[in-house]
Parts: sequence; structure tokens; C-alpha cells
Amino acid sequence: MVKIIFVSSSGEKREVEAEPGMTVMETATKGGIDEIVAECGGACACATCHVYVDDAWTDKTGAKSAMEESMLDFAENVEVNSRLSCQIKVSDQLDGLIVRMPESQH
Ligand code: FES
Repeated sequence: MVKIIFVSSSGEKREVEAEPGMTVMETATKGGIDEIVAECGGACACATCHVYVDDAWTDKTGAKSAMEESMLDFAENVEVNSRLSCQIKVSDQLDGLIVRMPESQH
């Protein structure tokens, strides 16, 4: 079992168990993380699953696809470590992954 740590914009940490093969967005919605809205259900078409990947984890979460990059243009306060959580697949290597959430989605 892999654990993902979601940090709210006010600094509150919540740990959610994830299965390899799920996405970080699916982990959040299953785990009751309301800040991840995920309007499009993971189709990379809404940008309401925006997260900031902790600096220590950016190598392990990999690179954004061109489609993800262009969808992030619709998110607010995008930073270099911004990702769409529906595009990050959970694997054993992501055990302990820390993602911070923006104050709001859109
Ligand atoms: Fe819509 Fe991620 S859930 S882009």
C-alpha cells in the first residue's frame, strides 16, 4: 500500500492510502480530499485537479505531457511544480509523495 500526503493551502496534512495504478486524483477523491474537484473525471480536460508536487518528489512524478501543460494554462497560480493530479500514476516509488493543493481550483 502506498501513502500519499495531501497538504491543504492552510498547511493541514492528510494521508490517504493509494493503490498502484490509480492516479493521485483518484486517490484524493476516494479519500475525501474535497479540494480536488476533478470535474472531468480524469480526462485532462478541466484543470480542477491542480496540485503542487513537493520539490523532493518532482523527479519521481515525471514530466508533464504537452496536453497537461496546455490544460494547466486554465489553472490559477501555476508554478514550476504544478501538475494535474489525474496525470500522475501512483506507483510503489511514490510511497510518501507530498502534494500541496491550491487555495481554490480555478
Ligand atoms: Fe480534469 Fe484532471 S480531473 S484535468
